[in-house]
Amino acid sequence: MERKGAQRQRILDLLEHHGGLRPGVAATISEQTGVPEADIYGVATFYTLVNRPDAGVRVCQGLTCKLAGADARIAELAQLGTPHTPVSCLGQCDRAPVALDPELELVSWGQRGAVTPDDPELPMNLGGADDASYAALSRAREMGAEAVLDALKESGLQGRGGAGFPAHIKWNAVRHEEEPTHYVVVNADESEPGTFKDREVLLRRPHLLVEGTAIAAWYAKADVAYIYIRGEFTDARRSIEAAIEAAQPHLDGLDVRIAVGHGAYICGEETALLEALEGKRGMPRHKPPFPTQQGLWGKPTLMNNVETLACVPAIVMRGGAWFSSLGRNEPGSKLYCLSGHVQRPGVYELPLGVTLDELVAAGGGYVGTPKAFSPGGASSGFLPMSSRDVPLDFKSLAAAGSMLGSAGVVVLNDTVDMGLAAKWQQVFFEDESCGQCAPCRIGCSIQRQTVDRWLDSRDPSMLEHVADVHWEMEEGSICGLGMTASAPLRSAMQHFPEDFGT
Ligand SMILES: Cc1cc2nc3c(=O)[nH]c(=O)nc-3n(C[C@H](O)[C@H](O)[C@H](O)COP(=O)(O)O)c2cc1C
Ligand code: SF4
Repeated sequence: MERKGAQRQRILDLLEHHGGLRPGVAATISEQTGVPEADIYGVATFYTLVNRPDAGVRVCQGLTCKLAGADARIAELAQLGTPHTPVSCLGQCDRAPVALDPELELVSWGQRGAVTPDDPELPMNLGGADDASYAALSRAREMGAEAVLDALKESGLQGRGGAGFPAHIKWNAVRHEEEPTHYVVVNADESEPGTFKDREVLLRRPHLLVEGTAIAAWYAKADVAYIYIRGEFTDARRSIEAAIEAAQPHLDGLDVRIAVGHGAYICGEETALLEALEGKRGMPRHKPPFPTQQGLWGKPTLMNNVETLACVPAIVMRGGAWFSSLGRNEPGSKLYCLSGHVQRPGVYELPLGVTLDELVAAGGGYVGTPKAFSPGGASSGFLPMSSRDVPLDFKSLAAAGSMLGSAGVVVLNDTVDMGLAAKWQQVFFEDESCGQCAPCRIGCSIQRQTVDRWLDSRDPSMLEHVADVHWEMEEGSICGLGMTASAPLRSAMQHFPEDFGT
C-alpha cells in the first residue's frame, strides 16, 4: 500500500523542490511521478506554502499579532514596496507581531517569549537541559508492556492536542489490532491560533519527544514513526532533525521520519493529517473507522500530540501516581501558552486546572484592565472576566461553554472592541475551512460577512441569523473545525452585548 502511494507521496516535496506551483511545474512533476497533472494541481492548490510561491513576507494575522500592531507592519511593508501577504496565525504569539521572510525564517518585531523556570520536578521542564540519556526508553523495555500501560492509565494522561482523550485507550487499541503493520504519527502541526507550546518542546526538549515517540512505537509494535511538523516551524524542524540523528544508537532500529507540512491549519485534525501524509489534499475523513483501526495507508495508527508524548518519559521514570498528583482537578501538569495583553507572554508549565489569574501571575501580570480571554485557541471563543476563576481544565471549561483545547490562552484588555476581535477569528476559519462540507464552507463565510456587516453598519439586525447558521454548521460538518467555527462570534455576542449594540 505504502509503495503504491509512494509517487503520490512525493508530490508535495517535489513542489517544494521546484519552488512552488509555478507555470509548468505541475506538468514536470507529472512526468517525474506518473501522477496525472490535474491531481498534482489539485494537491498543490490546497497548501498555502506551495500555492503562493511569490507571497514575499508572510505577515501573521492571528489575534495576538493583530493586537500587537500587525496592520501597522503591513502598512510599513507596503510603503517600502516589499512584497508581502497576510497569512493565518504563525504560532509565534509570544513574540508578536511576527512574519516569515520568503525563506520561511522568522521575523519578529516583538520580544522573545518566556518559558517556565527550570524545575526538575516538572515532567517537561522546558527551562531545564534536554536529557538525551534515553533512560526512560530502557526502563520501559525492562518494565514490559503491561506495566507501562498500567503507569499510563494511572497517570490519567489525556491527549494534549485538544480533545483530551485518555492516552492509554488509544495506545492499547493499536497494540491489539490484528493487522501486523502499525504506525505511530506525532502531531506537530500546531496551528491553532494562540498556541505555541509544541514549538517550545521541539526547540528545547526534542529528545523528550523522540524518547516519548520511541516508547509509544515500542508499545504499539510500530517499526516506523512519522513526526508531522508544521512547515512554518523552520527552527523547530532543525532541532528535531538533529535530535533524531543523535538518538540513533538508542532507537533499536526504529525508523523515525520527519514529514513537513505545507501550510494548512486543517492538517492538525488527525485524519486530515493522514491524508496529507499520503500526499493528498488534507481533507478530514469520516470517523469511524478511527485511525487506531485504519490510519496511515489503512493500517492501525497511534497518533498523539507532541506534548502528550513528551509527558511519557517522566511517567515511565516516576510513575503514574506521581504524574497524576501534579494536577488540580484533572491529572498532570500542563503547558499553557499565554499571550495578548500580559507582561511576559510565553509557555508556562503549571498544574492542570490553574485559574487565569494564576497563569497570568506566572506571566508577570496583566497589561491594562482585562476584559476578555480566549482559553483554548480560536475554537474556544471568548469568555468574560467573570469567568476568571474557572479552572483552566477540560471539564470546567466545557461546563463554562468553552474548552481547554490546545491551551492557547489569549488575554484582551478593555481597549479591544469584541466585534473586531470576533471578526479576526472568523476570518481565520473562513480562510482555513477545507471546503469539503457545504455547511462549514458556506457557514464560515456567512459568519465572517455577518460580523463585517455589523462593524460597517452597527445595525443589530445584521446579527439575527448567527445562531441558525451555527446550528447548520454544528449539525452538518464532518470535523471539529466546522462544529466550533462560530464560537468567536457567538461567544462575543453572548458575553459582551454592549459591544454589539444589544
Ligand atoms: C480543526 C482541528 C485542528 C486540530 N489541530 C491540531 C493540532 O494542530 N495539533 C494537535 O496535536 N491536534 C490537533 N487537533 C486534534 C487532533 O485531531 C487529534 O485529536 C490529536 O492529534 C490527538 O492527539 P492527542 O490524543 O495526543 O491529543 C485538531 C483537531 C481539529 C478538529
Ligand atoms: S467541517 Fe469544514 S474543515 Fe472540517 S471537513 Fe468539513 S469543510 Fe472541511
